[in-house]
Amino acid sequence: MIYAGILAGGIGSRMGNVPLPKQFLELDGKPIIVHTLEKFILTKEFDKIYIATPQEWVTHTKDTLSKYNLLEDRIEIIAGGKDRNETIMNIISSINNYKTLTDEDVIITHDAVRPFLTRRIIKENIDCVLEYGAVDTVIPATDTIISSQDGEYINDIPVRDIMYQGQTPQSFNINLLLENYNKLTNQEKGILTDACKILIVSNQNVKLVSGELYNIKITTPYDLKVANSIIKGGIIND
Ligand code: CTP
Repeated sequence: MIYAGILAGGIGSRMGNVPLPKQFLELDGKPIIVHTLEKFILTKEFDKIYIATPQEWVTHTKDTLSKYNLLEDRIEIIAGGKDRNETIMNIISSINNYKTLTDEDVIITHDAVRPFLTRRIIKENIDCVLEYGAVDTVIPATDTIISSQDGEYINDIPVRDIMYQGQTPQSFNINLLLENYNKLTNQEKGILTDACKILIVSNQNVKLVSGELYNIKITTPYDLKVANSIIKGGIIND
């Protein structure tokens, strides 16, 4: 089975003083999460689409989707976890309650606050996860990346040609992800904020799929302005 997991379990603290978690803020007349979900609904390959939000926003999410006529049978809305990886794990246990997991099951996970992903990116994630078992979506780094442990002095300037910026979707064979997640200590689970890193620390291969420059994550008020400009500029090709 091919599952989608839309990660909307955060509260968007970096968005500042706003009345709703950022995934529910309006972008061009509709909530960001609605833009994102619409892309997933268009992909018929998904057997189920899970959306995980903070527990106290589950009802609001149902109401929002109902308002936009998006509450179809494939969609399940559940409570997320205390960090991003826990949200993914909550989705996986809901999947397992729905249908016992098999070694063929895969999940395409995506940040609810990246509304500009394309059907091409989703399709390549599905094709690659079925073939390789783990996938990350990236774009080449255009700025030079500087690494600094203390934020005061440079430790390293890696060769830019081999540097990429991580986006989402990130897609996994579910049992492969679980097997590697369960090997981690609680302390490691707390530190590994990136789901692909769960596999990287166990030396598993993660295949790269090309993202898009405009597949931005809306994190700050500035990003929301950029997102509005992306829509008005009509620069998304899907
Ligand atoms: N996310 C999640 N569950 C969590 C934390 C984050 O599903 N416990 C999701 C967010 O809802 C978001 C995505 O992961 O769609 C990317 O995370 P980020 O931009 O860091 O979102 P927030 O945690 O909401 O933002 P902030 O760090 O500013 O509070």
